[in-house]
Amino acid sequence: MPSFPVETPQRAYSAIVERGILLDAARYVPPKSGRIFVVTTEDVWNHQSTALVRGLAGLPHEVLFLPGGEDNKRLAPLETLAEEMVRRQGDRTSLVIAFGGGIVNDMGGFLAAIFMRGIPVLQIPTTLLAQVDAGVGGKTGVNLAGGKNLIGSFHQPIAVLIDPGALSTLPEREYRAGLYEIIKTGIIRSAPLFRFLVEHRDAVLAREDRAVDYIIAESVSIKAEVVSADEREGDLRRILNFGHTFGHALEAETGYRRLLHGEAVAFGMRAAIHLAETTGYLSAENALEMLDAISLYGPIPPLDGVSAGNLLARLASDKKTVQGTVHFILPTSVGEVKIVGGVKSIAVLSAIQAALA
Ligand code: GLY
Repeated sequence: MPSFPVETPQRAYSAIVERGILLDAARYVPPKSGRIFVVTTEDVWNHQSTALVRGLAGLPHEVLFLPGGEDNKRLAPLETLAEEMVRRQGDRTSLVIAFGGGIVNDMGGFLAAIFMRGIPVLQIPTTLLAQVDAGVGGKTGVNLAGGKNLIGSFHQPIAVLIDPGALSTLPEREYRAGLYEIIKTGIIRSAPLFRFLVEHRDAVLAREDRAVDYIIAESVSIKAEVVSADEREGDLRRILNFGHTFGHALEAETGYRRLLHGEAVAFGMRAAIHLAETTGYLSAENALEMLDAISLYGPIPPLDGVSAGNLLARLASDKKTVQGTVHFILPTSVGEVKIVGGVKSIAVLSAIQAALA
């Protein structure tokens, strides 16, 4: 059972990658917990509740539904759920189980962070993207009209239970969207993971157990290591945002409806790779192999009508923009990135245009 320690100033916990772990969920509920609130979406609950309910082994729990969809990742649904928790006698001993994809992990975690000034959350991510990224590391929050995840907090879970078997019912498009986050992990910190994705595309797309277990465990191991080194993104954790700055701009520009988060990250990585090449940080050969790897798992949905100029303007409102300076995570070789500020707008614009083409 691969179990990866995440050790932050706020909390130390494990991210456990194990087929069937949902059936053991009760073991991870602290003994003195009061009401248990499972925060999920109807879709996830319809497909995946059987294993979790069995895993809770008779522990009473309330199920609360979020609307689902990136465009509903807003503060209002959380207020509704918090009112419901109060009505159902939630208190400071309550526990949230965030059971679903990245949106549920972010929103359920944020609900736990703010309900009665903070109650524990157990993260059980059920999509590939959430298992390798959103469910681990304690980032929680919601979107504003002005940008993605602009309200939120760091609220570390008490544990993260990752069951690769839960992916068997995941739609193909969502599975591929998660694979882009894994390509990201390979490019920023693991050449072996990157090579594996390039060399074992068919096994990965066929969701063969050994391939899926390896790519998840390697990604979670890296995420756990990075978050342990830098919980609050002062330094090393920034590398996890490779592809995200451009990707968030694209999500906001397209009203959070046209692309899945992972697809937007794929676009963002393309832009960052072009930028790294034209600014001299990355060789043409390395750039090509990275772009090819992204294409191997594509294509992402068409981006016709998206304005490069609008995306450039949106970069300024990303929360990683500091006093007007946008910082980019640029790859320098497979497994290595550099944080670069002060890049000329004209170079950024042409990287966006190349990624849109
Ligand atoms: N998704 C990026 C991070 O957790 O820091």
